Amino acid sequence: MISLNYGNVNSIVIGEENGLNIEQEFLEYKETISNIIADLNQRKDKLGQWLQWMNLGYSEETVWYVKEFASMVKDRFDNVLILGIGGSALGGIAVTEALLKPYWNLLTKEQRNGYPRIFFLDNIDPDSMTGLLQILDLNKTLVNVITKSGSTAETMSQYMIIKDLMEKELGDDYRKNIVATTDQRIGVLRQLADQEGYKTFVVPDDVGGRFSVFSAVGLLPFALVGLDIDRIMSGIKDMDLALKNTDIFENIAAQGALINYLMDTKKGKNISVMMPYSSRLKYISDWFVQLWAESLGKEVNKNGEKVNVGPTPVKALGATDQHSQIQLYNEGPNNKLITFIRVNNFDNSLEIPRIFEYTGIGYLGGKTVNDLINAEADSTRVALADYNRPTMTINIDRVDEYNIAQLLYMLEVQTAIAGELYNIDTFNQPGVEQAKNYTYALMGRAGYEDSAQNLKSKMITA
Ligand code: PA5
Repeated sequence: MISLNYGNVNSIVIGEENGLNIEQEFLEYKETISNIIADLNQRKDKLGQWLQWMNLGYSEETVWYVKEFASMVKDRFDNVLILGIGGSALGGIAVTEALLKPYWNLLTKEQRNGYPRIFFLDNIDPDSMTGLLQILDLNKTLVNVITKSGSTAETMSQYMIIKDLMEKELGDDYRKNIVATTDQRIGVLRQLADQEGYKTFVVPDDVGGRFSVFSAVGLLPFALVGLDIDRIMSGIKDMDLALKNTDIFENIAAQGALINYLMDTKKGKNISVMMPYSSRLKYISDWFVQLWAESLGKEVNKNGEKVNVGPTPVKALGATDQHSQIQLYNEGPNNKLITFIRVNNFDNSLEIPRIFEYTGIGYLGGKTVNDLINAEADSTRVALADYNRPTMTINIDRVDEYNIAQLLYMLEVQTAIAGELYNIDTFNQPGVEQAKNYTYALMGRAGYEDSAQNLKSKMITA
């Protein structure tokens, strides 16, 4: 199991002004946290609560369908191309970057054990899209278009471009190269996919984009590139069981949520930095940033009062960003809580040769890069504590399916508990919808004419 070390948020270590008396805070919030956890678990099966993501670890049916489809198409395609944005892409990117062999798309088919390369188009940059389309053989490419709403302009414009190209190149057969993951009933993509006869997978009801990584949104791409999704499911289930414990002293998601919440509301640490010491985990921070920002950044609380809450998440990578951000974190404003992710065992052990022994770098010889990266994680944590800066560390035994699933699920539950502490709706995103609607208006979508008029006048004055 992954673990959480929060010693360096303690006032004994970093002083009263910046630190928390953890024992006392846990005791004070014991009942509140217990009620929150019990309530989440009780509401998770009810419709309209947006808590169905808590059941995804048990969805054997989805696992069966994605595995069956993946095995059917394995030999037909050299490439998988995912079209999606936000919650429809970030989980896939984070998990495949963490779990596939590094530089996967540069490996030969044999080195990939026969599985395809994987590409994510999660932006609408005309240059990068054109560049990618120039190198992909569409005949050998399976396109998975993922959008829960079925109408997101970025994803649907990508889909329209690629569908058109594919039809021109492949004739009627293009349909076999497209698979859609979308809502079961509603949305433009659902309608088109049914008309066109694509294979489809479902984004379940009551699962928001940023909580959808363990639905077919993530599981299908994972199965297509040969990740062990049974181990992913085991990781979620074991973590879910552990997080059902209503005792804050035993529940790491509750501990992470409460510490983040108190650091923000009591100690002014309104910036939350996620800093894994592992290149493979770099995109876990991107995924977390969206989860934390869209879930907790809200204008009104559940009572309808204007509160404008939400800690600002920031991504960093150890050791790289020690040479970029740590100067600020040590000596700049003391307004951050940094969460490190530390990997105990890497897949490879890389020894530094004993050369240049009588120079200033001779001390490195005979050590491993593994020793070096973890020494840097430990020394950065201690240095930050010397400056009275709060940090926590999530420890992972190794980067594999089981542990990554545990980590992501734990962070989802942490976010849900934090949302309850802030007393906001964790699962809506009115701020995202507002910008989406303005885009529809600007691009001339029917029904958005008034909004377009209003927007144009604002753009002139801006
Ligand atoms: O988390 C969310 O709800 C959002 O980030 C969505 O995932 C994102 O806006 C994409 O939406 P859709 O999946 O409907 O295309």
